[in-house]
Amino acid sequence: MMLSICAASFLRECRRGLNKLLRGEMMKNIKDIFLIVVFLSLTGLTPITTDCAGAVNYLSPQALVSSENENLLYIAQGGARQVAVFNTNSSKVIKTINLPAEPTGLDLSADGKYLYVTCAAPEGRVCVIRTETNKIIKRIPVGYDPRSPVLSPDGEVLYVCNRFNNTVSVINIKKNKQVAVIKVLREPFAADITPDGKWLYVGSHIPDGPANAESVACKVCVINTKTRDVDVTISLPNGSTGLRGLAVSPDGRYVYVSHILARYTVPTTQLERGWVNTNALSIIDAGSKKLFDTVLLDDVDNGAANPWGVSCTKDSKYVCVTQAGTHELSVIDTAALLDKIKNYQSSDTKAQGGAERQNKPGGYGSAISTSTGIPNELSFLYGIRRRIRLGGKGPRALAIVGSKVYVAEYFTDSMTLVDLTKWPRPETVALSLGPPPRMSEKRRGELLFNDASICFQKWHSCASCHPGQGRVDGLNWDLLNDGIGNPKNTKNLLLAHKTPPAMITGVRDSAEAAVRTGIKHIMFAVRPEEDALAIDEYLKSLKPVPSPYLAKGKLSKSAKRGQKVFEKAGCASCHKGPLYTDLQKYNVGIGQGRDEDREFDTPSLVEIWRTAPYLYDGRAANIEEVLTKYNTGDKHGVTSKLSKDEVSNLAEFVLSQ
Ligand code: HEC
Ligand code: HEC
Repeated sequence: MMLSICAASFLRECRRGLNKLLRGEMMKNIKDIFLIVVFLSLTGLTPITTDCAGAVNYLSPQALVSSENENLLYIAQGGARQVAVFNTNSSKVIKTINLPAEPTGLDLSADGKYLYVTCAAPEGRVCVIRTETNKIIKRIPVGYDPRSPVLSPDGEVLYVCNRFNNTVSVINIKKNKQVAVIKVLREPFAADITPDGKWLYVGSHIPDGPANAESVACKVCVINTKTRDVDVTISLPNGSTGLRGLAVSPDGRYVYVSHILARYTVPTTQLERGWVNTNALSIIDAGSKKLFDTVLLDDVDNGAANPWGVSCTKDSKYVCVTQAGTHELSVIDTAALLDKIKNYQSSDTKAQGGAERQNKPGGYGSAISTSTGIPNELSFLYGIRRRIRLGGKGPRALAIVGSKVYVAEYFTDSMTLVDLTKWPRPETVALSLGPPPRMSEKRRGELLFNDASICFQKWHSCASCHPGQGRVDGLNWDLLNDGIGNPKNTKNLLLAHKTPPAMITGVRDSAEAAVRTGIKHIMFAVRPEEDALAIDEYLKSLKPVPSPYLAKGKLSKSAKRGQKVFEKAGCASCHKGPLYTDLQKYNVGIGQGRDEDREFDTPSLVEIWRTAPYLYDGRAANIEEVLTKYNTGDKHGVTSKLSKDEVSNLAEFVLSQ
């Protein structure tokens, strides 16, 4: 184990040295030369990216920030655990800065002197880098998997989303210290602040609450930065999930949010016209702090899967959205967009047509709860946006410098520069960040899992319903493998290959079978067997993320007490360690409607802290509900005689897995 970790970091070091050589940087010390020689001999003299020895050797750019005065771009490279400094004049990486953990986000002080980098780990840190020396001068402890750092306009406060603590850290810049923690909703993922510094908008990655509620959608929390309270919570339309990008327009008037708009209330019988998943941009009016409307980024026969980064040009004239699943950038004329929405809204109110359109029988829009009907219009952006094909794959982060949009492409270690000066025919330039990666099978599987170009009309990818590296979207889906009219909550794919059969009903013998039927019946695609094999490899490589309920990697006192209750209540007979499943099917008295009397495959409890809601139809918002409200007659473990404390200790134990 130790040996492979050492080998991994050693190879990473070697590659760093090689990258320097390829960039033409001077060999400053003997160590670099030595490492390059070793690396070249290990890899057979080919300057390629491999992930042999388990090393993560891809750069995987995933966040960008620009320093306009200095003509620099800072690029967080998650795979390489470094920040690259890119000169926009020479279009070259001029320096790299090593980090202690995967960098997930960046922000830069207004004077360009300090770079703040969130580094993901259970004990997350913000690394403060002095840009003059490119040295880390301070590491500020924050929460679990920190991301999306946002500096207040006066430069005095830094806000950071702690994804797995469901909190926002408030850091005093002078003291270089966390001074407050604000509770927000599930998995805060993207944030931005209004130009007056008064309001911080924080987007939740996936919905919370039960999946059979009337509306299931991720939300945006608006924090009053003075009182440090959540002032308003704005719900996006029913079916909103996979929120990844959020940007306040520089004029402070609107907040743009990118997300998936799932049509989860209809069976997944076809994909045409966005029947299953659509891809959206929500616009919040910053004045009233209300949802203004939601528009689809898709075209009638061409989905815009997995919208990710959002950013506006400084004059607020254009809003740009990366489409990670289709390898494109959408550039939207904001004045035309806002006008069109206003016209539509006023004519819609007059004609009272919105609600009617929405509720028409069989209308795919039945999941959507806004009144205008705009979120169902697949040609709404026609004529007011440009869909620009990018050179690389997996565009996630973007940064705008004047009229130049830099988009970082996660899977190809590249960037595309989109120059808007030639609007409406923007020009693109492909930029390289390092040697082109030669993908291992596992990495190719990861790309395929995220790639909507393998899907009929590019409506979605596997990652649309299984975001966060094969996890869950918080929704119920009426897949066709177990009949129609009995939706099932999306499953975590983390241990799918180790815990056959697959699907909660066990209708597929194995995860391998589920992967192949997924390609055929959910992507509506025919792909070669090697693609399915690559996806298998990727899913098999996923590792559990440690529970935030653990204290320094160990069970808390309450969880230890809960462990005893787990035995006493008979949970362990079916949820057998170490994966907490005996791979058998049981009727635990939960099935309703078409699933009454159905046996379900005992699910693993590993990483259950991250996959709410619970039970086959997602009716339980939390573990307590599984143990009390929905366990009638003690058919699902003996819980009726447990005291309140015992229930909460048991929940704590389960959530620690
Ligand atoms: C429209 C949403 C959606 C999409 C897209 C989707 N899935 Fe799923 N997936 C689900 C749901 C819902 C379940 C759980 C269904 C059940 O338990 O009956 C599931 C279950 C699975 C399982 C079984 C897990 C287990 O342990 O039982 C596998 C494997 C899987 N999906 C792989 C994939 C792959 C690979 C893709 C892309 C080719 C994909 N999925 C695309 C919704 C989706
Ligand atoms: C007889 C076998 C059996 C016993 C005993 C049992 N379970 Fe389960 N458990 C299951 C099955 C089957 C399901 C799937 C039910 C469903 O999805 O609706 C399940 C589902 C769950 C879930 C929801 C998982 C998810 O991802 O939605 C949790 C949590 C859970 N069990 C915890 C417990 C605890 C705690 C105990 C002890 C009090 C317990 N179970 C006892 C078989 C069992």
